[in-house]
Amino acid sequence: MSTENNKMMKRDLEVIWHPCTQMKDHETFPLVPIKSGEGVYLFDFDGNSYIDAISSWWVNIFGHCNKEISNNIKQQLDTLEHVLLAGFTHEPAISLAHKLVNIVPEGLNKVFYVDNGSSAVEVTLKMSYHYHLNKGECKPIFLSLTNSYHGETIGALSVGDVSLYKETYEQLLIRNMQTPVPKDQTKESAKEALEALEEILKEKAKEISAFIVEPMVQGAGGMHMYHADYLVGARALTRKYNVHLIADEIMTGFGRTGEMFACNHADISPDYMTLSKGLTGGFLSLSVVLTTDRIYEAFYCDYNEHKAFLHSHSYTGNPLACSAALATLEIFEKNNVIVENYKKSEMIASKIKKFELLQNVKSVRQQGMIAVVELSGYKTEERIGLKVYQYGLEHGVLLRPLGNMIYFMPPYIITEDEMTTMIDVAHDAVKSLI
Ligand SMILES: Cc1ncc(COP(=O)(O)O)c(C=O)c1O
Repeated sequence: MSTENNKMMKRDLEVIWHPCTQMKDHETFPLVPIKSGEGVYLFDFDGNSYIDAISSWWVNIFGHCNKEISNNIKQQLDTLEHVLLAGFTHEPAISLAHKLVNIVPEGLNKVFYVDNGSSAVEVTLKMSYHYHLNKGECKPIFLSLTNSYHGETIGALSVGDVSLYKETYEQLLIRNMQTPVPKDQTKESAKEALEALEEILKEKAKEISAFIVEPMVQGAGGMHMYHADYLVGARALTRKYNVHLIADEIMTGFGRTGEMFACNHADISPDYMTLSKGLTGGFLSLSVVLTTDRIYEAFYCDYNEHKAFLHSHSYTGNPLACSAALATLEIFEKNNVIVENYKKSEMIASKIKKFELLQNVKSVRQQGMIAVVELSGYKTEERIGLKVYQYGLEHGVLLRPLGNMIYFMPPYIITEDEMTTMIDVAHDAVKSLI
């Protein structure tokens, strides 16, 4: 049968190589061509709708085609679409940088613009290594947590630990060591993991430039969650051993974990913070690295001393993306989003309890606007996540499990009724596997 979806899929597969995909899968699993979006809904070409339970790769925090964001972009579009940021500047970049400095943890006063998450991580690694060089120390190793994910460019992949993405490229990677992530959300696990961290730092700190973490929740590593005490301890230890702390808030930033930034749960300020995804409300690609005056000053000198940070990307600080980000921040200010989200996360908490009664559910956990149902008893080859994904699509919900983890990360504008549908469909999907 030749539906509009099928026609689109055929045209697509003639020319497009999709990300994070074994393309042969599309011999049996159809692509979903999306025609439009509105609020929490995506609409395909055959008139089906899907509740976007994952905010479209965790970026869309205020709904699809949000009017406030799109209007801001439209205004900017007829004013200035782009200009290089080396030697030039523009109003949206300046305003956005000031606003960000005012809301991130204290001490992060300088904003380095980039254009996607992985590149922001690359910047922190290079900047940290270069800082130490400028200070007369060569520290060629980075430290990260087991089960971490920081993106898929070579540097970002090197500090990550998801073997599915990393293993193949092992020979190409830069030097990295790993320390155990706390095994669960308890204080005891945080304490245990801090002991292991100190052991490594005691021995290796002289060679380590920076310790990079996804604060509170490790996203692509299966939405693994840990206690804020770990961040408090990690901040103290990295200071003690002269190692930078990088908080990669690309996924956790902008309210996802319940606070504006995950670092706020521990009341810590890292040496670098990376932000992207929710920054533009899911409209355009943009990222930033925030850092301290102290680090900025280590690069500040006469040109011929060769200490400048000469990293750049063509679309760094794009005005359209900055205008989307400005509108996004305005929505946070105007709508008291963090407080409203607290109520929504309570609703999610009460609705997901019923998963605990299913025999194939190992655990249910939550941190703010991220909720996870972990299944047990299935082998990787069974691709159980794919079955849940397909069930979801057939019943109007876009779920995208990470292996055996089914998670909910909806746009914050989701209503209680939409939440109920999203969770009920996932529940039926899990039940159908028994
Ligand atoms: C914590 C974290 N860091 C970095 C990245 C990479 O961002 P991007 O996909 O924009 O390269 C991601 C993406 O999921 C992420 O979750």
